[in-house]
Amino acid sequence: MKKKFVIAVDGPAASGKSTTAKGLAKKLEYVYIDTGAMYRACGLYALNKNIPLSDLEALKSMLETIDIKIEYSNSGNKIFLNGEDVTNRIREEEITKISSEIAVIGIVRKKMVELQRKMGENGGVILDGRDIGTVVFPNADFKFFMSASVQVRATRRWEELKARGVEISYEEVEKELIWRDKNDSTREISPLRKADDAILIDTSNLSIEEQVEFLYNYIIENMEKK
Ligand code: CDP
Repeated sequence: MKKKFVIAVDGPAASGKSTTAKGLAKKLEYVYIDTGAMYRACGLYALNKNIPLSDLEALKSMLETIDIKIEYSNSGNKIFLNGEDVTNRIREEEITKISSEIAVIGIVRKKMVELQRKMGENGGVILDGRDIGTVVFPNADFKFFMSASVQVRATRRWEELKARGVEISYEEVEKELIWRDKNDSTREISPLRKADDAILIDTSNLSIEEQVEFLYNYIIENMEKK
């Protein structure tokens, strides 16, 4: 792939965005930017510093000192928060919830969007999140919106958690997912929404390979028009 496109992949929790974006990045030799990990790192930082999410002044100072770095590698990106590797810690359930809570705050989003635009400015990137095609890169070359039924998404997340040794019931996972989707799609700033020009993909009956293949073929077939 000679052209360095910006590719946006949005969608609700556990819709297959990140696995697909990772697979596609590998195939295209692009950089994968997990923007959800950045909100997760913000949530973790506020938690570590005991900052209540209602304290905007404290959050503002926190954002001045926050340093989020993604170390790119084929075997999986690592995420560093002020120098510390937090790749695994940010996947814990406690952080999942707080990431969605902190993501409604305007100053937090402003800072993250700024960082994301910088990371993607030279193209050759795939970003996944909730607002990539609508806000971060409204002029992205390719926009995809992935979705799947609540049951399929909750099952995927439950299996992921079980594989990591987390003891949690399916019902709890489903409840958390429904809460987060609602919180993400009803917030005032940059809610989770499909961009009008994004391609909708229902992943309920697709394997990861099929998802990657679909996006890849779509890009190859339409790249001349870009
Ligand atoms: O992997 P999963 O889909 O469960 O979540 P994630 O992509 O890691 O995102 C965690 C949370 O960050 C989401 O629930 C959103 O509240 C927030 N987020 C956002 O607001 N905007 C983005 N571009 C990415 C994530």
